[in-house]
Amino acid sequence: MGVFVSSDGIEAAGHEQVVFCQDRHTGLKAIISIYSTALGPALGGTRFYPYESEEAAVTDALNLSRGMAYKNALAGLDLGGGKAVIWGDPALDKSEALLRAYGRFVESLNGRYYTACDVGTYVPDMDVIARETRYVTGRSVEHGGAGDSSVLTAWGVFQGMRAAAEHTWGRPTLSGRRVGIAGLGKVGKYLAGHLIEDGAAVVATDVSPAAQEWARTTHPQIDLVDDAQALITSDLDVYAPCALGGALNDDTVAVLRAKIVTGAANNQLAHPGIEKLLEERGILYTPDYVVNAGGVIQVADEIEGFNFERAKLRATKIFDTTSQILRLADDDGVPPAVAADRLAERRMAEVGRLRSIYLG
Ligand SMILES: NC(=O)c1ccc[n+]([C@@H]2O[C@H](COP(=O)([O-])OP(=O)(O)OC[C@H]3O[C@@H](n4cnc5c(N)ncnc54)[C@H](O)[C@@H]3O)[C@@H](O)[C@H]2O)c1
Repeated sequence: MGVFVSSDGIEAAGHEQVVFCQDRHTGLKAIISIYSTALGPALGGTRFYPYESEEAAVTDALNLSRGMAYKNALAGLDLGGGKAVIWGDPALDKSEALLRAYGRFVESLNGRYYTACDVGTYVPDMDVIARETRYVTGRSVEHGGAGDSSVLTAWGVFQGMRAAAEHTWGRPTLSGRRVGIAGLGKVGKYLAGHLIEDGAAVVATDVSPAAQEWARTTHPQIDLVDDAQALITSDLDVYAPCALGGALNDDTVAVLRAKIVTGAANNQLAHPGIEKLLEERGILYTPDYVVNAGGVIQVADEIEGFNFERAKLRATKIFDTTSQILRLADDDGVPPAVAADRLAERRMAEVGRLRSIYLG
């Protein structure tokens, strides 16, 4: 069952289409939200999560799909923004049949929406979904996929950080700077490698003993500290949140000593207004959705038939986009987060409008 929903809530939020999907036999309950197809088919991952209520699931789908439209626009992709949520506990409810039922609903949208991995869904799940639909990315390399997207996510974050360094100190390098990474997970590990290669001193923290052990054995020069609080209050030039969202809140921004914040974590600003607080403290914040777009760039490349070098070139451009946003922020006298939104909206409007030219 696919139902097109148009309520006041969705009208106000501005989404194009929201589809509710149900398959009673497998227990599938999913919501596919398409915010915009102005630039092309909507791309965004599928979150599999035990939401408290249907309302919470819908709200998450609406917010996440809007975020993807902005991220994809600034990544220079010919893709719009969408996202899907499966309402359930992945540990209990995930099955081949459920994922394939979901894949059939994705297929039924006939290419208006491409899915990918997100919280609770993984590369092998995309391979299963791909048995029912062509409109899936983030598959395994054996199935023509891009594999682990954290490789180019880290590369893109590094490029954004280089742009911020140039904007702040005049040179596009982290050489001689002290960079603090919170979270040595899939992305944080690659990022640490790029920074060390560039000549930066890396300070890091991670709650996982395995990640700490990785640092001790792979890069013994990494200075490990106890927790994120110890990290942000230490003498840093750059802070890179690479763990969970909400790293920048009233308390952390008040004591943060870094001049730049550039990291992979999604939704780093705990609430609206934090971007102004950062500006008041003279801290340059590169919006998370701009610098962490390497992952979506990597999986989007699958649509053309995955080519790592082509995807890496595109992710390298995160340097130029970040520089452009920082200049626009200065020119317009607004925080970079506002400048980034303006640039994304401009591209969606200007390039999206071209479809009105009749091709005959
Ligand atoms: N992987 C990607 O391609 C990608 C793309 C875009 C955005 N992101 C975002 O980047 C972030 C990191 O992604 P990832 O794929 O590396 O995830 P991950 O789960 O592999 O790594 C997260 C790491 O953070 C650590 N951690 C958790 N809580 C912590 C805390 N309080 N203090 C210190 N460390 C803590 C974990 O132990 C883990 O090692 C996430 O917010 C993710 O949404 C990832």
